[in-house]
Amino acid sequence: MKKILVTGGAGYIGSHTVVELVEAGYEPIIIDNFSNTEERSLQGIADILGREVICHRIDCTDAAALRQVFEQETGIAGVIHFAAYKAVGESVAEPLKYYHNNVGSLVALLQVMEEFKVDKLVFSSSCTVYGIPAELPVTEQTPVQKANSPYGNTKKICEEILTDLATSGSDIHTIALRYFNPIGAHPSAKIGELPLGVPNNLVPFITQTAAGIRQELTIFGDDYDTQDGTCIRDYVHVVDLAKAHVVAIDRLLSGKADNIEFFNVGTGTGNTVLEAVQAFERATGEKLNYKIGPRRPGDVPKIYADVTKATEELGFKTTSTLEEAMKSAWDWQMHLQNTSEQV
Ligand code: WQD
Repeated sequence: MKKILVTGGAGYIGSHTVVELVEAGYEPIIIDNFSNTEERSLQGIADILGREVICHRIDCTDAAALRQVFEQETGIAGVIHFAAYKAVGESVAEPLKYYHNNVGSLVALLQVMEEFKVDKLVFSSSCTVYGIPAELPVTEQTPVQKANSPYGNTKKICEEILTDLATSGSDIHTIALRYFNPIGAHPSAKIGELPLGVPNNLVPFITQTAAGIRQELTIFGDDYDTQDGTCIRDYVHVVDLAKAHVVAIDRLLSGKADNIEFFNVGTGTGNTVLEAVQAFERATGEKLNYKIGPRRPGDVPKIYADVTKATEELGFKTTSTLEEAMKSAWDWQMHLQNTSEQV
């Protein structure tokens, strides 16, 4: 089996990708410093797969520690790099923490990859690089703009680093996947999103409100230029997103990929916040307690993906509906309650 190193592999998208890699016949090796996830993710992966996945507990900004893993794990065929902080608001308050971790970890990883002649990388990028797009839906040719936050800027800088590396003639071939809004959880409800503290993101706030952990959801603004006044996003089921990483690794290992390629990973459909809430209520039968509040500074009014390139060149399309994603998020929330492990 081909060995794939998955940095941040105990995290939300990472853990779901580890499951899909095994099911596709790969041998994932996790690297995680557990700064933004918990050990129980490894147990959830093991429960789904019926076996444990090797995990090295190191920080990806530590090149020496990375080197030790590459020395120990011989024959790494490729790397999927998830390890990064992703809280937009926190990045505004603590920019250096974000530049050090998100940019520093990529540079350290690339240097060690070059040393060990590991030359296939899937990079976790984000639709935040598009800023507030002038046209919708966004394609991979939509201009990348000044990011709305240090977090978004780290993704933009990392894409520039990878582009410069490709131009330099490095042997490293990269596929950068620009995620839209990942939501939901594995259908087994054994792994899912583990927001530490009060959730920033919409869907965990919805499920925690429905579970009575939060009193009510505040919808940030209903005076946008959209069908119901609330913001539009492209909500993509995390399992679909995980499968896109397997397709990207397949493409890199087949030798078909250029030095660097970018793909949007979304559903190609935009939904408003209110539509997302209504989808949750339909999918679960739960009535959600919410109110309309003021806009959240920095929010992009509308963004959703044109997925033509991924469909045509990766042969990848999402399959889950918004309702299915919401139901899976609710089942995961119930699993957390029942195992009373909610933090
Ligand atoms: C979605 C919508 C809010 C919370 C996230 C990540 C970003 C990137 C894309 C990975 C917005 C509204 C939210 C709430 C609300 N992912 N909302 N009440 O801001 O699109 O960005 O996904 O790179 O890193 O942060 O996601 O879930 O925070 O917000 O009304 O309590 O829900 O205004 O319109 P966002 P989000």
